[in-house]
Amino acid sequence: MFKATKIREDIYWVGALEWEERYIHGISMPYGSTNNAYLILDEQVTLIDTCIGSHAHEVIERIADVIDPAKIDIIVSNHSEKDHAGSIGAILEAAPHAKVVTSIKGEPILRTYYGERDYLPMKTGDTLSIGKRTLHFIQTPMVHWPDNMVTWSPFDKTLFSNDAFGQFIATSKRFDDEVDLSVVLACAKKYFANILAPYTKQTAKAVEAVEGLDLDTIAPAHGVIWREHISDIMSLYKELCACRPEDAAVVVYSSMYGSTERMATTITEAFMAQGVAVRQYDMDISDISDIITDVFLAKYVALGSPTHNMTVLPPMGEFLTYFKGLAPKTKDRIGISFGAYGWMDAAQKEIAAVFEKAGYALPMASFAEDWNDTAAGERELFDAVTSLVEEARR
Ligand code: FEO
Repeated sequence: MFKATKIREDIYWVGALEWEERYIHGISMPYGSTNNAYLILDEQVTLIDTCIGSHAHEVIERIADVIDPAKIDIIVSNHSEKDHAGSIGAILEAAPHAKVVTSIKGEPILRTYYGERDYLPMKTGDTLSIGKRTLHFIQTPMVHWPDNMVTWSPFDKTLFSNDAFGQFIATSKRFDDEVDLSVVLACAKKYFANILAPYTKQTAKAVEAVEGLDLDTIAPAHGVIWREHISDIMSLYKELCACRPEDAAVVVYSSMYGSTERMATTITEAFMAQGVAVRQYDMDISDISDIITDVFLAKYVALGSPTHNMTVLPPMGEFLTYFKGLAPKTKDRIGISFGAYGWMDAAQKEIAAVFEKAGYALPMASFAEDWNDTAAGERELFDAVTSLVEEARR
């Protein structure tokens, strides 16, 4: 029994709650997720976005709580990724005469999913009257697909922002002022670092475009709706889009017999002694999406692995793959490569190459110790990291 939630006069939340969802393309979701869909009752009954295909029945049942789904005239698809567009086919079965509003880049994608339908492609500046309301469409390309757009209803002072300003969290409450703000802002930051990070310039443009709108509600396609804390989420997005590195370090390692772990701890202690905020992660027990969230604003990143099969240990390999795609693309980032080896420092060289490709400076030579770490080596490493921080602050 799925019910709709009224969020404004004649607007209902009819989304899907993914209470059990814990993982999507590299990102852990300890609080689950939501696919938000919104139903507007106007002369033309309009549904903004849908949900992942496996939850289509949930969205249709929530719609039916308010109105016969067959009465839907317009489906707005702000983004063709399947967590939002995956139920359009099911909705069209229930509402066969409905037209599908999409961006000009979204139309060919939806065509591959659903074939020939009555599509209305939109670009920035296009509008659609649905009765009392006129919906405005703004393309937000690469936030985070080429097809992304947002829909603004000036009548309701509401922006349907799709992925932008979203958070992976399932909640029984719909609004930002009904939940723990620190939790949803942390979820929004993790969402940004794991999904939008490669597109900070495009996201900054999107923030600029929506900032001038007359708004009192931002209704994203994931997580809670912003109404009391719009300035907080806007400030967070501006800070993340600026991507200015903080005086912080992240130390990530895989270890076989403990030598690389001891090096990691020595590096962490050196950062701490310099007053740098640092977090240390053992890849055997840590989550790549939590680490990358910390990496996003950290000036320093240290990655360590022993050489094994002429490469890094598999858990570090997983992190390197993720880091290659999501490393912040700004200058002034510093990398440290370290680890133990038996007869060849292949892992440390591989890590250094990943840092170089990501644009990180490597002011300190890779710290590779053969066979065994020693007290002298530990001192040398501690001093090298200390010098590196002192030099970076000059
Ligand atoms: Fe939430 Fe890009 O889909």
